[in-house]
Amino acid sequence: MPLTPTPLSDLLGVEIAGVDCRVPPSAAVKAEILEALYTHQVIVFRDQTLSEDELIAFSEAFGELEMHVNQQDGGYARPNFHTVTNLDKDGNILPPPEPGKEYNGTSAWHSDKSYMPYPSMATFLHGIEVTKEGGETLFASLTHAYAALDDEAKARLDGLKCVHHWAQSMRNSKSRPATEEEERLAPPVTHPLIRTHPGNGRKSLYIGYHASHIEGMDEDEGRAELFRLLDFATQDRFVYAHKWRVGDLVVWDNPSLVHKSAPYKKYEERRHLHRTVVRGGATF
Ligand SMILES: [Fe+2]
Repeated sequence: MPLTPTPLSDLLGVEIAGVDCRVPPSAAVKAEILEALYTHQVIVFRDQTLSEDELIAFSEAFGELEMHVNQQDGGYARPNFHTVTNLDKDGNILPPPEPGKEYNGTSAWHSDKSYMPYPSMATFLHGIEVTKEGGETLFASLTHAYAALDDEAKARLDGLKCVHHWAQSMRNSKSRPATEEEERLAPPVTHPLIRTHPGNGRKSLYIGYHASHIEGMDEDEGRAELFRLLDFATQDRFVYAHKWRVGDLVVWDNPSLVHKSAPYKKYEERRHLHRTVVRGGATF
């Protein structure tokens, strides 16, 4: 029986029932999920109880998984699986970071790994412990934002290249400075400012806090233009805010979205999610 996605908002996000994600999908189900992902940009599967291995196996059905080199803020890591958490490895809430060691990147609008030559394709996030208040994941549709631009703006932006850079992302989000090792691993890269989706050919803006400036334009001027575009693209009318329930498996399409997490009481409430990411390819 075909899957019937239920809309989660007027513009983006659908819930899909009837899929047991402990089992890797058949070719037919996978095709339907991908179609829904490319069309609706965010998919939620409810009430999933997945082991780490089951999450890896389900997400791996959609492509090769990214190997994670960094593990921020405690938790623990396997090469292709990691945690998004405010807990240490013993399960206790982590204390505030020392001054100057803060990382604010997850609460700034971004598309996963857009500072790399081959940015992330799909991210899979599974809710293990979720907050009562705050901590939503917010998604803004860069496809719908692009479509809403006037013809003059589309023509002006067409063909421009945008430089994405981890070190600038850290400055943009008022985080600690990038380390020398991070600078070495993630030098500046360029991507088209208007990106064509590899799966369905739809056009999107491709921006966010990892974006530094516009190639061939004065850096400050380009940065100001990118932030104006980001403000436009993240208006409420382009946003779906996902309120987490335990067992949610949320899958999102990085080429056509920016996302961020909403604030929560991170020194009082526990928040623990499991994460895998399917690798992407070159941008065009
Ligand atoms: Fe992210």
